[in-house]
Parts: sequence; C-alpha cells; structure tokens
Amino acid sequence: MMDFLLIVALAALGAALAGLLAAPAVRVLRRRSVALSLFAVAALAVAAMAAGTVAVAQAMFLSGHDLGVVMAVVAVSGVVSLAAALLFGRRIAAGSEELARSARTVGSEGGFVAPAEPPTTELAALSRALEETSGRLAEARERERALDASRRELIAGISHDLRTPLAGLRAMAEALEDGVAEDTARYHARMRIEVDRLAAMVDDLFELARIQAGALALTLSRVSVYDLVDEALAGAGPLARASGVRLVAGGVVPLPVRVDAQQITRVLGNLLVNAIRATPADGTVAVSARQEQGRVVLAVEDGCGGIPPEDLGRVFDTGWRGGAARTPRADGESGAGLGLAIVRGIVEAHQGRTTVRNAGAGCRFEVELPTVGPPPATDAPALQPAG
Ligand SMILES: Nc1ncnc2c1ncn2[C@@H]1O[C@H](COP(=O)(O)OP(=O)(O)O)[C@@H](O)[C@H]1O
Ligand SMILES: [Mg+2]
Repeated sequence: MMDFLLIVALAALGAALAGLLAAPAVRVLRRRSVALSLFAVAALAVAAMAAGTVAVAQAMFLSGHDLGVVMAVVAVSGVVSLAAALLFGRRIAAGSEELARSARTVGSEGGFVAPAEPPTTELAALSRALEETSGRLAEARERERALDASRRELIAGISHDLRTPLAGLRAMAEALEDGVAEDTARYHARMRIEVDRLAAMVDDLFELARIQAGALALTLSRVSVYDLVDEALAGAGPLARASGVRLVAGGVVPLPVRVDAQQITRVLGNLLVNAIRATPADGTVAVSARQEQGRVVLAVEDGCGGIPPEDLGRVFDTGWRGGAARTPRADGESGAGLGLAIVRGIVEAHQGRTTVRNAGAGCRFEVELPTVGPPPATDAPALQPAG
C-alpha cells in the first residue's frame, strides 16, 4: 500500500515538473491558433506521462527493461495522440476560417451564407447567431429602403403641391402688374387664399418634421375632454355650415385628461375637417367621447360611405391621399396628405393610439388617450352641436 502511494506521488511529481516546464509554452500559445493549443496539450500529456514513468523508474519501482517497454508504449501512443490532435486542430482551424469567410457575407446583398458543417457546437452556435444578425440587418435595410422611397414620394408630392399655388400666384401677380386684371379685388382675395393654403402646408410640414424628429414639446395640462371637443366643434363649425354637413356631439363624458390642449385640439380639428370634407351635403358628422378601461376614447364618425378596406391601413401614412389626384381643393385646405400623419404623431406623443374602421354610413376614427384621476363629481350638461 505504501509503495502504491509512493508511486502515485512520484508520478505526480514527474507530471508536475513536465507541466511546470511546459507552462510558458502553453501561455505563449494561448492566443495563437486552436490547432497549436490542442497540439501543445497533447504534447504536455505525453511529456507528463514520460516524466512520471522516469521518476518511478528512478525510485527503483521499474527495472531497466520495464522502463524501456513502458517508454516504447508512451512513445507510440504519443505519436498517435499528437497526430490526432494535429488533425483535429486543423479541422477546427479550417472550420473557423470558413466561418470567418461566411461572416464577411453578413450585411451583403445576398445575405449570410452559412458554412456547410461547422466542426464544433460552439462554431455552429456562432454560425446561427450570425445568421440571425444577418436576417435582422436585412429587415432593417428593407425598412430603410421603404422609408426612403416614401420620403422621396412625399417630397415629390409636396413639391407638386407647392408648385400649383405658386404658379397661380405668379399668373395673378403678372396680370395685376400688366394691368390686364379687370376685377383686382377678386384677384387680391384669390391671392390671399393661395397664400393661406401655402402657409397651412408649410405649417403642416414643419409640425410633421418636429413630430418625426421627436422634437414635439408637449405642454401638458389637466383639461376636460368636454372642453377639447367643444373647442374643436367650434373651430369646424363654419366649414360644416358651408358644406351643409350637420355636426353633432353624440355623448361626451366630462373626463379629465392630461394633454397638450392645443395639440389635441389640432388632432380633433384635422379629424373633423377630413370627416366634413368626406361627407356629402346633408350628411352627419358625430363626435363622441367615452371612457374605457382607464382610457378616454374620442371618436369622429362621418358619412363618407366607407373607405376601401385595402386603404384602411394606409390613411395614416405620411403623404397618402385617397384616390383623388394631387389637385388643390377649392376650400383652401393644404390637402397634402399630412393631416392624419400629424394626428397619429401627436396622439402617440401622448402615449395614445389612433384607429380607423368603417362604421354606419361612413368611417369612424378613434383616438385613445390615457385619463387622469377620477371623473369630476358634477355632470356637465350635454354638449350642443356647434354647427
Ligand atoms: N373621415 C374620412 N373619411 C374618408 N376618408 C378619409 C377621412 N379622413 C381621411 N380620409 C382619407 O385619407 C386621406 C389622408 O388624409 P389626410 O392625412 O388628412 O390628408 P389630406 O386631408 O390632406 O388628404 C384623405 O385624402 C382621404 O382620402
Ligand atoms: Mg386632412
């Protein structure tokens, strides 16, 4: 028993000595190729075995003949394991190289081309991770491309929209200059309308740019939904009367909300103007506000006869306008397809949500806003239509 323990101790001593001598080599190779490291580890195992055997033989536990036999066995298995380490190491190195080549295809037009068979699970996992990254990159690029296209389309559309009133203004200015305008007062009034339309369009563009840059500074205050709707109805009244459209308040709960009153009035105003314009004379546009799970839902319902289902998903897109060509409207509205994009931007800046669906004789736009605190105790009187 004692002998056995001594043999173990001597073998450990020999192996430790070999390990100590090999340590600097292992340290140097640590940052080099994995093939070299594998080779070094196999060489260390062989050297430790040989050193332990020699130590045991020195202590007379092995005869000279036995030492020769054991060393021959160690030498042969050493050659085999070194060769195996070298082969395996080269396979891993080749696999890594192939993966590195594949990695260069991440972000290329064709997308990531995964290596056929990565030699280890780690390399296979890395390959999968690269594949996912490449997929995400492709998606981001696709989004960027779509955004770019819509931006170009918007700029082209806006340029066209700006050019039309400008051409009109130039023609009228020239006529006045040449003294060929007969009814100068009418020319001036017409010019005033065109200038207002241009100003409204530039104002919308500026607002949208601020929203899209995330630079919309909200001045939040606690206001009643009731007052917001009242204000918007008063603003849209003249247009509704001129268009022969009835404006009705179909149930407005007097709930408090914490919003930028000016911006939400703009939201309601945009929705009302759209609704009135889309509704034929004698039709009805109804505004309502109800409470739903801690949210206030403002709704504007018109009599437009419904929006084609395939267009419902696009109405809030910047610059999108339904069917009609880009011709300026008689009522002087900008009509550049920015109104609903602004609506969505403002509502989202308030942590709210906008939706649209077809309902009744037309469509229904809804704006969901978070409420604050309990509703006031006294019931406000039912709201009267402004038109
Ligand atoms: N209430 C509505 N009823 C029917 N169609 C609408 C309504 N509101 C908006 N739309 C459609 O959505 C388009 C985009 O609206 P908007 O962004 O306000 O731009 P614009 O009013 O300048 O056309 C409109 O051109 C119209 O086709
Ligand atoms: Mg509009």
